[in-house]
Amino acid sequence: MRSSFAVAFAAALGYVQATELLDRNLAYRSPFLDVPDFSHDTRAIQARHIELAKRQTVDASGFSDDHYPTFYGGDFSNAPFLWSGGVNFTHSVASGDPDDSSILLWTRAVPIASSSGTVPDQSVPVCVSFKIFDNQKLSGRPVDSGEAFTSYDVDFTLKVEATGLKPDTKYWFQFADCINPTTVSPVGATRTLSHPDTPADQVNGGKPLTLAVFSCSQFQAGYFNAYGVAAHNTSADVFVHLGDYIYESLGSGAKIGRQVLGRELATIFDYRQRLNQYRTDVSLRTAHETGPWITVWVCIALSDDHEVADQSWKAGTANSNDSTTGCKFSASGACFTDRKMAGVRAYHEWMPIRQVAVDDKLRIWRNFQIGKLLDLTMLDTRQYDRDITDLYYNTVIQSISGFNNRSLMGAAQEQWFSQTLDQSKKRGAVWRIVGQQIVFIQLNETALLGGFDVDAWDGYKANRQRILDHLYANKVSNTLILSGDSHANWVSDLAHPNDTTTYDPVSGKGAIGVEFAGTAVTSGSPFGSLSSTDADAVSSLLTGINPDLQWSEGHFRGFFTLTIDPHNVKATYYAMRNISNANLDSFASAVFNVKAGENKLSRPVAGGNVTAGALKGKAVPSASAIIASIVSSVTAAEAESATATAAASSAAATAASSFANSVVSGTSIVASSSTAA
Ligand SMILES: *[C@@H]1O[C@H](CO)[C@@H](O)[C@H](O)[C@H]1NC(C)=O
Ligand SMILES: *[C@@H]1O[C@H](CO)[C@@H](O)[C@H](O)[C@H]1NC(C)=O
Ligand SMILES: *[C@@H]1O[C@H](CO)[C@@H](O)[C@H](O)[C@H]1NC(C)=O
Ligand SMILES: *[C@@H]1O[C@H](CO)[C@@H](O)[C@H](O)[C@H]1NC(C)=O
Ligand SMILES: *[C@@H]1O[C@H](CO)[C@@H](O)[C@H](O)[C@H]1NC(C)=O
Ligand SMILES: *[C@@H]1O[C@H](CO)[C@@H](O)[C@H](O)[C@H]1NC(C)=O
Ligand SMILES: *[C@@H]1O[C@H](CO)[C@@H](O)[C@H](O)[C@H]1NC(C)=O
Ligand SMILES: *[C@@H]1O[C@H](CO)[C@@H](O)[C@H](O)[C@H]1NC(C)=O
Repeated sequence: MRSSFAVAFAAALGYVQATELLDRNLAYRSPFLDVPDFSHDTRAIQARHIELAKRQTVDASGFSDDHYPTFYGGDFSNAPFLWSGGVNFTHSVASGDPDDSSILLWTRAVPIASSSGTVPDQSVPVCVSFKIFDNQKLSGRPVDSGEAFTSYDVDFTLKVEATGLKPDTKYWFQFADCINPTTVSPVGATRTLSHPDTPADQVNGGKPLTLAVFSCSQFQAGYFNAYGVAAHNTSADVFVHLGDYIYESLGSGAKIGRQVLGRELATIFDYRQRLNQYRTDVSLRTAHETGPWITVWVCIALSDDHEVADQSWKAGTANSNDSTTGCKFSASGACFTDRKMAGVRAYHEWMPIRQVAVDDKLRIWRNFQIGKLLDLTMLDTRQYDRDITDLYYNTVIQSISGFNNRSLMGAAQEQWFSQTLDQSKKRGAVWRIVGQQIVFIQLNETALLGGFDVDAWDGYKANRQRILDHLYANKVSNTLILSGDSHANWVSDLAHPNDTTTYDPVSGKGAIGVEFAGTAVTSGSPFGSLSSTDADAVSSLLTGINPDLQWSEGHFRGFFTLTIDPHNVKATYYAMRNISNANLDSFASAVFNVKAGENKLSRPVAGGNVTAGALKGKAVPSASAIIASIVSSVTAAEAESATATAAASSAAATAASSFANSVVSGTSIVASSSTAA
C-alpha cells in the first residue's frame, strides 16, 4: 500500500519524471518537437491521463505493483493507472537507423478488447518494456532495457532507442507488457554498425557488408516477396528503402487478395490505416524482424513520391496544391501541407527512423559513417526543398529543366551533400554510397515515356551537373549512386551527359562512379505488360541510345544487394518470378562488380552475361516476329497512360510507328507525351 507520504513525494518530484515514460517513446516526437501542432505535448497527455485515470473499467484486483502509478505521480487508489487489460503486439517488431552504439527499436502494442467485447478504455497509457540481448536465446543480463508508454495519440506505436551497444554486433530484442510481462512480442534480430574509425578491412569483422536495396512497394500491385527473399535467401546486413514504401492511391488489388482499405490518403487516420495494412504482409514483417532498416521517403503525403502524394515537390503534388484551389482536394478538402503533415507524422510513427534535426522540420537526409569502409549518405530528392516538378498539367517543365536556378535538393541539402562527400574522402572512407530516390543519369526514355523523365534528375539538369562537377573537380572517387522510383533496372557508369569525349561507353574510361537504379518491389513497370523477351528488345534499344546506360531490364519486379568490401562492390539484381501470390521464388538476373579506384563498372559488364534485360552492345534474343507485338503493346501502353488528349494519342501513334523502324534500324523513336512512373 502506498502511504500518502509516498504519493505526495511522487507528486513533488513532479512533472519532469512524470512525462519521462512518454518521452522515452520517440513516436511522441513525431516527427519533431519544435512545431507544437505536429509533435505531441506529452505534458498535456500526462495531465489527461491523470484526469481520466479513474475511468479505467478493467478489474484492478490482479494489479499488485504500485511502482508505476507512484512513479508516475498520481493517486490512483481506485484503479490501476496503467492499462492492465492485456496488449496485442499486432505488427511484430522492427529496428532501424543503427550506429556503432545504438539502434531504434519499434513495436505496436494495442490494448485488447475484453472478452465481453467492451472497447478498451483508451484514456490510460499502455506501458511496454523492452530488452535487448547479445544472444538469440535472450539469456543472461540484457545489454539494455527499459520501459516506455504508448497511447492512441501515436496509434499505439512505440519507438525506443537502445543504447550502450557494442559496434558491429548482432543483437536480439523483445518487448513485453509491463503489467502482464508474460505477454511478449516476437523476437527481432538487429545489429550495430562499425565505429567510424574502424579500418576498412575490419568492418563487419572483416567480412563484406551487404545492403539489400528496395523501392516502390505498392500493396495492391502484388505480394512483397522481394523483402522475403532478401530476408530468407540473402545475407543482407542492412535493409535500405529508397522510397514509395506505401502508396496513397487505391488501385485495384482485389483479384490477388490485395485490395487496400480506406480511400486516397489525406488524414492522419488514412495514413496510419495504410501503414497498418502494409505491415500485415508476411514478407515485409519478416524483413523488419530480420535486421535494421535505413529508409528515405519519396513523397510523404501521398507516396510515388507516394508516401505523400504523386509527383510531389515542396508545395504541392500532381493532385493537390497549396493554392486556394489546391485545397479543394477531392477526397477531404485537405491542402497539400495538411496531407504532408499527416503523411510525415504517420511515417515517423510507423518507421524506425530517427529524427535528424529538431530544428529542421522535414529533414531526413542523413549520413552513416560505417567504419572506413563507406559512408552511406541518404538524400531526400523528393520532399525537402524541391522546385516544381512535372505535374502532368504543367507542360513547361521540359523547357525549364535546364535553368540554373532550379534545385532538386534545396540549397541547404546540396551544400551538406558536397561537404559530406568531401568529408568522407578526407576521413579516408573507401566508398561513398548515396541512397536517393530518383534516376540520376540522363535517360532518354522516348521509347517508353515519350521523352525524358523530368520528374527525375533529368528535370533538374543544373543541380545534377553541379554534383558531377564536384565529383570530377575534387577527384571524389568510388561514388555509387543508388536510385529507386522508376520501377525498372538501370545500371550505368556516371559521367556528364552527352560527354563521350571524356567518357568512353565501351571501356568505361573517364567515368566518375556508377549508378545502380533498382526496379520496384511490386509497382508496375514503365515497360507495361511486355513479355520478358519483348521487354528485353526495348531494353536493347535503350542501352543503344543512352551512352552511360550499360544494362536495362524492365520486366521483373525485385530488388538488389550490394556486397561491399575494401576492394570491390558486387551488385546482385534479384528478379521475382511471380508476385501474384506470396512466395520466395526468385533468380539473379545480373551481377556487376565495381573495383575500388576504377570509378566504372568492371568490364566485361556483368561478366558479359545476364539472365534478363539487355547489356549494351549485346544482341538480345529478339526476332522480327516479335517486333510487331512490341509495337502493339507499346501503343496500348502509351494510349492507356498518356493523358487522354488527341495530341498525346497521336504522339503515341507516332512513337509506335517510329518505334517499329527504330527496332529494325536500331536508331530512334520520336514522341512527346509524358507519363507517370
Ligand atoms: C492481435 O492482432 C492480430 C493482428 O491484428 C489479430 O489477428 C489477432 O486476432 C489479435 N489478437 C487479439 C487477442 O486481439
Ligand atoms: C529461401 O528461403 C526459404 C526459407 O528459408 C527456403 O525454404 C528456400 O529454399 C530458399 N530458397 C533458395 C533458392 O535458397
Ligand atoms: C493546382 O494548380 C494548378 C495551377 O493553378 C491547377 O491547374 C491545378 O488544377 C491545381 N490542382 C488542383 C488539384 O487543384
Ligand atoms: C531562373 O532562370 C531563368 C533562366 O535564366 C530566368 O528566366 C528566370 O527568371 C529565373 N527565375 C528566377 C526566380 O530567378
Ligand atoms: C544532351 O543532348 C540532348 C540532345 O541535344 C539534349 O536534349 C540534352 O538536353 C543534353 N543534355 C544536357 C544535360 O545538356
Ligand atoms: C502466378 O501465380 C498465379 C496464382 O497466384 C497464377 O495464376 C499465375 O499463372 C502465375 N503466373 C506465372 C507467370 O506463373
Ligand atoms: C550465361 O549464363 C547462363 C546461365 O548461367 C548460361 O546458361 C549461359 O551459357 C551463359 N552464356 C554465356 C554466353 O556465357
Ligand atoms: C531520344 O531518343 C530518341 C530515340 O528513341 C531520339 O529520336 C531523340 O532524338 C532522343 N532525344 C534526344 C534529346 O537526344
